[in-house]
Amino acid sequence: MPTPIVIAIDGPAASGKSSVARALARRLRYRYVNTGAMYRAVTWLVVSRGITPADTTAVRAMLDSTVFECGFNATGESTVLLDGLDPSPHLNDASVTASVSTIASIPEVRRRLVAKQRECVKDSDVVMEGRDIGSAVFPETPYKFYIDATLEVRAARRQRQGVADRIEARDKQDSSRPMSPLIIAEDAHVVDSSHLTIDGVVGEIIGRLKLKNLALPEGI
Ligand code: DC
Repeated sequence: MPTPIVIAIDGPAASGKSSVARALARRLRYRYVNTGAMYRAVTWLVVSRGITPADTTAVRAMLDSTVFECGFNATGESTVLLDGLDPSPHLNDASVTASVSTIASIPEVRRRLVAKQRECVKDSDVVMEGRDIGSAVFPETPYKFYIDATLEVRAARRQRQGVADRIEARDKQDSSRPMSPLIIAEDAHVVDSSHLTIDGVVGEIIGRLKLKNLALPEGI
């Protein structure tokens, strides 16, 4: 099999990257990997076990004793199981959102999840979204995008979703951690989604992929 293609989509909280990445993967018939969901899954387990998120020793001990499995569902979207349990109903709980940046700043958590993310692409082309996909997980991919939007637009999106999320604080924590912080990779194409629809952003990305001569499914 030829080397799988990785399209990296990074960006801050509520930039629209999940909707864009999912829609892009559907159009290209690639698999979709949501790496934020992996950090959220670990955070959910930490919170539900009553572990203090800043207690790195306890978090590492928990990881050592947990079987973390990644897979794909029938529609090609990434799934996570922790000791056989599906955490997906809890991934957007306020308690998870409030602690996920702390958990994601623990180097051992990152090392383990990045290894899983690299495993995901063994046998399929993927659109993978997160914070460090283009800069650290797959720095060699030529297909890197950074989706941005103004803080006002992003805050309004969360408000419409009825989700409590201190996005500014989360962005600050995600951008200032020592290990693979949220940055714009040097060779990433930046898309400002503030005034674009999801289809508009997907269209811009597809235009860019064509310029880079990526072979796309017929009709695109
Ligand atoms: O995309 P999201 O909001 O669901 O991500 C939740 C958190 O996970 C985010 O605040 C930082 C962390 N994260 C990360 O550090 N690296 C990634 N590749 C994806 C997410």
